Amino acid sequence: MPVVPATEEAIGRAAQALARGEIVAFPTETVYGLGADARDAHAVAKVFAAKERPRFNPLIVHVPNLAAAEAYAVFGATARKLADAFWPGPLSLVLPRRIDSGIADLVTGGLDTIALRAPNHRVAQELLAEAKLPIAAPSANRSGRVSPTMAAHVEAELGDVPAMILDGGPCPLGIESTVVGVAGDAPVLLRLGAVPREAIEAILGQALPLAREDAAISSPGQLERHYAPNTPVRLGATDVRTGEALLAFGPHAPQGAVAIINLSASGDLEEAAANLFASLRRLDEAGAKAMAVMPIPERGLGEAINDRLRRAAKAR
Ligand code: TXA
Ligand code: MG
Repeated sequence: MPVVPATEEAIGRAAQALARGEIVAFPTETVYGLGADARDAHAVAKVFAAKERPRFNPLIVHVPNLAAAEAYAVFGATARKLADAFWPGPLSLVLPRRIDSGIADLVTGGLDTIALRAPNHRVAQELLAEAKLPIAAPSANRSGRVSPTMAAHVEAELGDVPAMILDGGPCPLGIESTVVGVAGDAPVLLRLGAVPREAIEAILGQALPLAREDAAISSPGQLERHYAPNTPVRLGATDVRTGEALLAFGPHAPQGAVAIINLSASGDLEEAAANLFASLRRLDEAGAKAMAVMPIPERGLGEAINDRLRRAAKAR
């Protein structure tokens, strides 16, 4: 049974496991990550194998802070401003990578850029401090499935892959980090996520355009049909059809669903984001004919929630 409460002692053992080239699942403020020593190509290969992830999909490297990040990437003025404003926190920056950084090429999928983030979670920060190494960690789900927001999700999906699953309780934000590319002329939004676009634009003092889907092979988080449950998903539902489960939002949920979960009865978008993936998993298990999803307002975190829901709804 690899799930263990994230005590100081367990984190110490997890750090040693990482240093030995083993894989450790750990909580962050966004979702659980499947971590490996980013300098160890063999360890990173185990992560790819476990996720069954296409090789071109590069990983985010987790670091304690900006000072540590500078060993791995070149920070210009804009990148520095964003790191100052949002780190530690749910923002990943894609930056020109330093050639002699020691990061395994497999981590970056052969790109000349690297994604970095400093997580804002006690367990992740203690693990980084104990291990003293950069941790490459994708979300701890199989490729194409929804991200885990609880240790039990990791255990159910990846079973015995990690040497340990550190249980730090449910992830407070529940949706993946926002990914911003700062490697080109102007910053671009590569993946909608837990930092709302407006908050980043306020710091930049300029618009942050979303990279086009077809241009986004450089950020496969953009790939359509990511984040897919098994049950077909019907968006924008204002009623419930026969045999459907309902993913509700707000106080006015229609009746008649075979199963119902409300992302936030009060209509709070942060609460909805925190509940999103666990709710998709639970409704998926209801064995319903389809999953009807009520409309979510397209503002603040609603933009990222709708992005994940649209991908979940793509016909398979
Ligand atoms: O919240 C999160 O970001 C979680 C936690 C564990 O930190 N991690 C996560 O990792 O969601 P993953 O691997 O599932 O998603 C990483 C995203 C993908 O969309 C990937 O394409 C993009 O970051 N990415 C990574 N490196 C990149 C690079 N060099 N250029 C463009 N996109 C990159
Ligand atoms: Mg992922």
